[in-house]
Amino acid sequence: MPGDRDVFREPLGTHDVLPPESERWQAFVTAFATRARRAGFELVVTPIFEHIEVVQKLGSTTDAVRKELYDFTDKGGRQLALRADGTASVARAFAQHQPATPWKVWYVAPNFRYERPQKGRYRQHWQVGVEALGVDDPTIDVEVIALAHEFYRDDLGLRQTRLLVNSMGDAETRGRYREVLLEYWNAHATLLGDEMARAEANPLRVLDSKRADWQDMIETAPQIGDYLTKESAADFETVQEGLHRLGISFEIAPRLVRGLDYYTGTTFEFQSDALDAAQNAIGGGGRYDGLVEQMGGRPTAGIGFGIGIERVLIVCDAEGVFAAPEPAIDVFVVDTVGGLAGLELVSELRAVGLSAERSYGTRSMKKQWSAADRAGARWGVLLAPRELADGKVGVKHLATGKQIDVKRDEVAAWLRNKEESDQS
Ligand code: HAM
Repeated sequence: MPGDRDVFREPLGTHDVLPPESERWQAFVTAFATRARRAGFELVVTPIFEHIEVVQKLGSTTDAVRKELYDFTDKGGRQLALRADGTASVARAFAQHQPATPWKVWYVAPNFRYERPQKGRYRQHWQVGVEALGVDDPTIDVEVIALAHEFYRDDLGLRQTRLLVNSMGDAETRGRYREVLLEYWNAHATLLGDEMARAEANPLRVLDSKRADWQDMIETAPQIGDYLTKESAADFETVQEGLHRLGISFEIAPRLVRGLDYYTGTTFEFQSDALDAAQNAIGGGGRYDGLVEQMGGRPTAGIGFGIGIERVLIVCDAEGVFAAPEPAIDVFVVDTVGGLAGLELVSELRAVGLSAERSYGTRSMKKQWSAADRAGARWGVLLAPRELADGKVGVKHLATGKQIDVKRDEVAAWLRNKEESDQS
């Protein structure tokens, strides 16, 4: 339990995002939004909490549901849970609203998992992601993977990421595979100990374990690729050919079943060596062709991915890419007159669409010019008593230091025209 001194701090496993880091977040989300929109995905916003049954669809044997759920009963006696991922909510929203297909949506949202916090692993983490519902054509799998790949490479500038791909096949594949896998776990029941019960409930979940003493056993476990039906194998082949065609390198990871129960067909994960192996996944996703039906909707194909914002930014730091943007504004008003003159001028400048800032209270002119530099202003406007008495202000181009007088009444329009002509 936190002591008195700890309660006015961010809760364990969460963190505040303050400027200038928040500027980097905004740039990250904007870049993702732009790329997603270009590929036909539109923004979806779903509640931060859901009926517990929705979140439980991640799987009763997954850690996210078994051990990490933030669940509570509200004042009306409803059993609710904070969202643990974006996919369950999107599938629920699709089943509820039945939009026309293909339904292609993107999101940015926090997710909650009661994890043991460490670098890159938090109790509240943020994801950007996309989901495409109502398309079973495996070439969309390639499009979805390509979107993530291009975001990492072209928008963020990451170079050291790895793409792992696998297929979970169809229901018949998974049925057969579960049986042989369970047989294999039974032969290792002593090593599995108490976890044998979980292996029986869902044999796939053992494959996600990071336990060091299990890795040899997992390494030699049967591989799902050997049990793919003809149709599943053909779909997987199409995905691989598509990735080759788009020039996207990947490795086949025969044991990549991903930690959530809803996956069917293609699964994939992007990893980076800049993070510890236990949390080296910077994004991942796959098909979940049964999830909408489990939410009470019509049988609907689905595929998507989620990218962990915090983890990716750690990796960007490690690779020295995607730094926080330098502060930049159009105009800083340096005011040696006082009263309401500064207030009036910034409001005029903002009204014509320029970003404008000023100092508050009385500060020396020198300090105000330093503040203009720190704010990254392109122009400084000097409000001084003598010039103002003549109906003028001084306008300084900060990069060159060149200053001219402009009529006070015309300065907002003058600066706006200047900015427009500089940009064109
Ligand atoms: P996930 O693999 O659980 O998949 O999470 C996606 C990404 O979120 C991870 O690759 C990682 O970057 C980040 N992440 C997950 N948990 C944490 C955490 N505790 N702390 C920091 N970052 C974390 C999903 O959530 C699926 N909904 C992805 C998906 C979308 N599949 C289909 N559509």
